[in-house]
Amino acid sequence: MKEKLAEIKAKAEEALSAAKTAEALEELRIKFLGKKGELTAVMKGMGALSPEERPRVGQLANEVRDFISKELDEQKSKLLAAAEKQKIKDETIDVTIPGTRPKKGGKHPLTRVLDDLKDIFIGMGFSIAEGPEVELDYYNFEALNIPKDHPARDTQDTFYINDNVVLRTQTSPVQVRTMEAQKPPIRIISPGRVYRSDAVDATHSPVFHQVEGLVIDKGITMADLKGTLEMFAKKLYGEDTRLRFRPHHFPFTEPSAEVDISCFNCGGKGCRICKGEGWIEILGCGMVHPKVLKNCGIDPDVYSGFAFGIGLERVTQFRYDVTDMRLYYENDVRFLDQF
Ligand code: DAH
Repeated sequence: MKEKLAEIKAKAEEALSAAKTAEALEELRIKFLGKKGELTAVMKGMGALSPEERPRVGQLANEVRDFISKELDEQKSKLLAAAEKQKIKDETIDVTIPGTRPKKGGKHPLTRVLDDLKDIFIGMGFSIAEGPEVELDYYNFEALNIPKDHPARDTQDTFYINDNVVLRTQTSPVQVRTMEAQKPPIRIISPGRVYRSDAVDATHSPVFHQVEGLVIDKGITMADLKGTLEMFAKKLYGEDTRLRFRPHHFPFTEPSAEVDISCFNCGGKGCRICKGEGWIEILGCGMVHPKVLKNCGIDPDVYSGFAFGIGLERVTQFRYDVTDMRLYYENDVRFLDQF
């Protein structure tokens, strides 16, 4: 029996020092010290010993059990210490390694210019109005003095949803919606997406942006229109910018004009950007037609006003020298990164 105990002790010692995990240790504990373990089996057999031998073997068996459980404990704390050390090693951060810079997004050039535009007009007391992109024919055309058979419809290749519903071809319908909902004085700009059935090329896109402007009050004249637009152009393109009003026709304004700014690049001498003209067209405008006022329930004998429509892509093109409309919509990071 003594030999058996010595054998168990030696086996346990060897197995314990080879154990690499907490699970392996637990298995060994059960194997040697458990109820059905090897040591227990020996102790159960002690009844067969003589009374003189029993205490000596009993003591030896206790020693072996104490030895094994001490070894188990030691091995366990060794494993824990090693795991802790490994964990610290794994989680160590080398603060001297150069970091990877997170990629930062930026504002789209159209958004940048629109933000500037909003700031300028808000600074002049305007507020922002919005309208739907899927619009009634009535608001997009009819109320703006463009009846069904009007030739002006041909210049705006319209996406029709049905006979009465269109994708708005201009932001001008927001004028009508605003006048219906609000009493003068009115001073709003309305930026937004507009749609025309154009094929994509360097200067056309079926989706683009306009910024509509509308001012209605008593005694508003063309001088207010000129003053407002001049202020806007100087703020956006610089103090030296001059404006040129060319007579034009829009069904919803009378009189109407197209407005050019003196080329910010050459100052009017003529260059690549203004195509030798010295002037760049940026918007359409005019005094709101009395018929439009009437359509919106505003008395044209009491109130007058002006309106304008700015092409955001055009304004941005000249701000950043963007020569191809498609660049705005392709989301090529090499383009967008420059802003
Ligand atoms: N809606 C016109 C267009 O798309 C632009 C425009 C011209 C708007 C004159 C106006 C305006 O408000 O008065 O061509």
